[in-house]
Amino acid sequence: MADKYLELIGITTRFGDVEALQGVSLSVARGEVVCLIGPSGCGKSTLLRAANWLTPPNEGTVRLDGSVVGHAPQGRATAAQIRALNGHRARIGMVFQQFNVWPHLTALENVVRAQMVVLRRDKSEAEAKARQALADVGLSDKMDAWPERLSGGQKQRLAIARTLAMDPVLMLMDEPTSALDPELVAEVLAVLQRLAEIQMTMLIVTHELGFAMRVADRIVFMEAGGIVEQGPPQELLSNPRTDRLKAFLDKLSLTTLPKDREHAEI
Ligand SMILES: Nc1ncnc2c1ncn2[C@@H]1O[C@H](COP(=O)(O)OP(=O)(O)O)[C@@H](O)[C@H]1O
Ligand SMILES: [Mg+2]
Repeated sequence: MADKYLELIGITTRFGDVEALQGVSLSVARGEVVCLIGPSGCGKSTLLRAANWLTPPNEGTVRLDGSVVGHAPQGRATAAQIRALNGHRARIGMVFQQFNVWPHLTALENVVRAQMVVLRRDKSEAEAKARQALADVGLSDKMDAWPERLSGGQKQRLAIARTLAMDPVLMLMDEPTSALDPELVAEVLAVLQRLAEIQMTMLIVTHELGFAMRVADRIVFMEAGGIVEQGPPQELLSNPRTDRLKAFLDKLSLTTLPKDREHAEI
């Protein structure tokens, strides 16, 4: 495992008066799975969106495999910088809470079109990749289905397949299961677990502590725009060092509905 594959260094992001991130530094090694947890509004999404420079921070640097994705503050970007950023973005897969699929394209076309537009692959190569990616997420029998006919879990697996077909070197996932009905959560987590098994480098924002416990190499707990604690899942969750993490875990177990317990139990 290369020590630092993705590096976020001193990331500060402000929205008006709100300092959403306060000089956060975080590295992810190649093949590592890092789960980000923390209360709503603590800056998890903003950190993820800084990683691919979707929300450029006010201060800080992001590097991927040693090469700069973005550096702030920065003057007007040069053509070379924009090209480099687009190159990085094409290799960083992002999966959101709301399944981002194109409603006017079938499942297969969704996966094909992304490759043709972003990677300029020709149609036959893109189709071969798409069939493989759809098989990898268990959607071989839904190639010709329209998104509106898919369940939430299937739509999210389609969104993951679309990202996988682009041969990402890093996946950023922002609460990929939190918009799903509880009975559909497991099928998406199973896909993520398989990705972890094939050593996909992933940074995942999640409330699924049971999943994080099984799959993460490291859990990072954030609060109020900063990292409070991080460590191996077992150690962090069963033996929190800070009162802030203790309080967060207590609250989470109190608000967990019985039907969710399987996913949230630690
Ligand atoms: N586009 C935005 N404009 C203004 N404030 C924002 C924006 N995005 C996030 N914030 C604020 O930044 C803080 C962190 O938000 P976010 O990263 O979405 O938190 P989390 O994902 O942990 O719930 C919150 O106070 C939120 O209201
Ligand atoms: Mg969020």
